[in-house]
Amino acid sequence: MKVWIDGEIVEGAEARIPVLDHGFLYGDGIFEGIRIYAGRVFRLDDHLARLGTAARCTGIELPGGIEAIREVVLATARAFGRDEAYVRLVVSRGEGGLGVDPTLCPEPRVVCIVDAVRLYEPELLSRGLALRTSSLRRAPADALDPRVKSLNYMTSALAKREARLAGADEALLLNAQGHIAEAAVANLFVVRDGALQTPPATDGALEGITRRTLLELARADGMAAEERTLGRFDVMAADEVFLSGSGAGIAPVGSLDGQPVGAPGPGPVTKHLIDRFAAFAQEAGPRFR
Ligand SMILES: Cc1ncc(COP(=O)(O)O)c(C=O)c1O
Repeated sequence: MKVWIDGEIVEGAEARIPVLDHGFLYGDGIFEGIRIYAGRVFRLDDHLARLGTAARCTGIELPGGIEAIREVVLATARAFGRDEAYVRLVVSRGEGGLGVDPTLCPEPRVVCIVDAVRLYEPELLSRGLALRTSSLRRAPADALDPRVKSLNYMTSALAKREARLAGADEALLLNAQGHIAEAAVANLFVVRDGALQTPPATDGALEGITRRTLLELARADGMAAEERTLGRFDVMAADEVFLSGSGAGIAPVGSLDGQPVGAPGPGPVTKHLIDRFAAFAQEAGPRFR
């Protein structure tokens, strides 16, 4: 693992955050999770644009601007040196006192971690993930808008905990209206009668970069691919169900709350999208060397 912190690149075990950093004390900060495929940082500019939006929504000033952050990502990826990797880019509010006031934190802190990718076990992917509907709801946009990828991941963490304690693999989060928002750290897709459907961001989904790529690739292939409000019914009734995310990749779902759903293992549309995505990822994003 290589980590960029406070202007230098160090080994993971050496990277330290001061306890008065408000990212640690209050979850006050924003982040991105990005994949490196074939020596290219996947859709880096799209990730940086999403980070830029999150920065504006939270009033965090990106030190040196987007261009400086882009160089940080490329330099850390270069230092790690592997063609397949995972990047965690964090911008915290920085150090302040023991009060929540962000205006007392003069300088945001940029941290970039590049490490090996941790993927789901192949048997899990071939049987499909077990999803569990969480008792926690995704917050509405007038709380902390879930479209802002902030360091406040307690809802996701607790939903994941509930799912794991119940013997499931991942959590399904509904919004306050009972519509599907997304999984704890991934977007959800269903395939029905050959059409691809995913909840709109206004239902509490993060505007995932993997999600966007899949919608684009499916449309380029002439498939119907739409953002549409979905309920648990739509998952139960689907021909195929899968999750998408930088960490998750494209992961088939095999059951919801113990009820088998979709195809056993990846269905034909899911398989097609996995292959299309893998081919696209070989070319999508800047090389770091
Ligand atoms: C809450 C949440 N939803 C969805 C996603 C998927 O987004 P992306 O494809 O940009 O990784 C993530 C990140 O992985 C996430 O944290």
